[in-house]
Amino acid sequence: MDITQFSQINPPSRLLMGPGPINADPRMLRAMSAQLVGQYDPAMTGMMNEVMALYRGVFRTQNRWTMLVDGTSRAGIEAVLVSAIRPGDRVLVPVFGRFGHLLCEIARRCRAEVHTIEVPWGEVFTPDAVEEAIKKVRPRLLLTVQGDTSTTMLQPLAELGEICRRHDVLFYCDATASLAGNVLETDAWGLDAVSAGLQKCLGGPSGTAPVTLSDKLAETIRQRKRVEAGIRTAAHRDGDDEMIWSNYFDLGMIMDYWGPERLNHHTEATSALYGARECARLILQEGLDAGIARHKLHGEAMLTGIQHMGLETFGDLRHKMNNVLGVVIPSGIHGDRVRQLMLDDFGIEIGTSFGPLHGKVWRIGTMGYNARKDCVMQTLSALEAVLNHLGFRTVQGAALQAAWDHYRREAH
Ligand SMILES: Cc1ncc(COP(=O)(O)O)c(C=O)c1O
Repeated sequence: MDITQFSQINPPSRLLMGPGPINADPRMLRAMSAQLVGQYDPAMTGMMNEVMALYRGVFRTQNRWTMLVDGTSRAGIEAVLVSAIRPGDRVLVPVFGRFGHLLCEIARRCRAEVHTIEVPWGEVFTPDAVEEAIKKVRPRLLLTVQGDTSTTMLQPLAELGEICRRHDVLFYCDATASLAGNVLETDAWGLDAVSAGLQKCLGGPSGTAPVTLSDKLAETIRQRKRVEAGIRTAAHRDGDDEMIWSNYFDLGMIMDYWGPERLNHHTEATSALYGARECARLILQEGLDAGIARHKLHGEAMLTGIQHMGLETFGDLRHKMNNVLGVVIPSGIHGDRVRQLMLDDFGIEIGTSFGPLHGKVWRIGTMGYNARKDCVMQTLSALEAVLNHLGFRTVQGAALQAAWDHYRREAH
């Protein structure tokens, strides 16, 4: 091997305007480059406690068990599902995009009996439709996605908690793509578990999954408690219920690590924790509501700009996420060619889509550190230039003018 062939990492300069990841906040990057400390250093355990407090603010919860799972958002989902679902449990998943299918896939691997309801991509469920299905299926858990980035739709959740409470159903939500860019009220909406990731509205890198658990759900996980041989003492008692069929994702063991006993499980990912702490600190410093309003402002500016470019948007706009927009690729235009030119000639990344929407819809994000006016204006102007270059005629300047007008209107 010729080691001189490997240069120091020096990624190209990009403006990431897809559905995530997005450019990380530079303050978060500085936090991540801080020196390591030992995992039981009081400085480290103190920061773990701070992370718990900060994410209670981000999730809007009093839940004691609010902590990080080391792994991408999917790890957070898997940790909640494998810890909450006992083999044979019935679960209900309202599927309105790819990430609903992911919940089904993970729940099946937890050996749940999985039931689904579906709407066409681009739509969401009414509370009545969910309640109807709950009455029919009688699940132990309802597994939902709040913002399904594959369709850019935001499932209304506010009324589902009360429905779950009435039918004695545990209520989980994957808020990976929506948290901190759209309203999510863990306690007020009666959620028993929420998981997320950093790489969307939280402005960090993927690789860390904040999760929060209600006391009720934590108690059911406690009943499945196991302590590993080697760290187990005579005082430790196993729970009466079937053990959790994963070691790494056993939230009982992760609670014991984040709790006062500090029972060793994994080695907490120190740099990732610094980053997650900084993401939450920045969000709460801005104000959670102010940050959500910022996502709405720039999401709407992007929407109006796209509409004035003569492009059609995807899905039911009444239920659009603040932070991602689906744009129908005009006929005669090759979607990937547009993305390539945006990247090569402007350094801007926009997203493609999955499954039935692949090749039909672009996804443009305005989130986290990139929910900013300059990012919106640069993206609109580059997209307009590329489309005209490829033969799709726009009224030149109309998109930017519409975005400017939107900003002016909203400033008053
Ligand atoms: C709603 C949703 N859930 C889960 C995931 C999976 O996240 P990760 O790739 O961080 O595991 C994503 C990623 O885009 C997502 O948008």
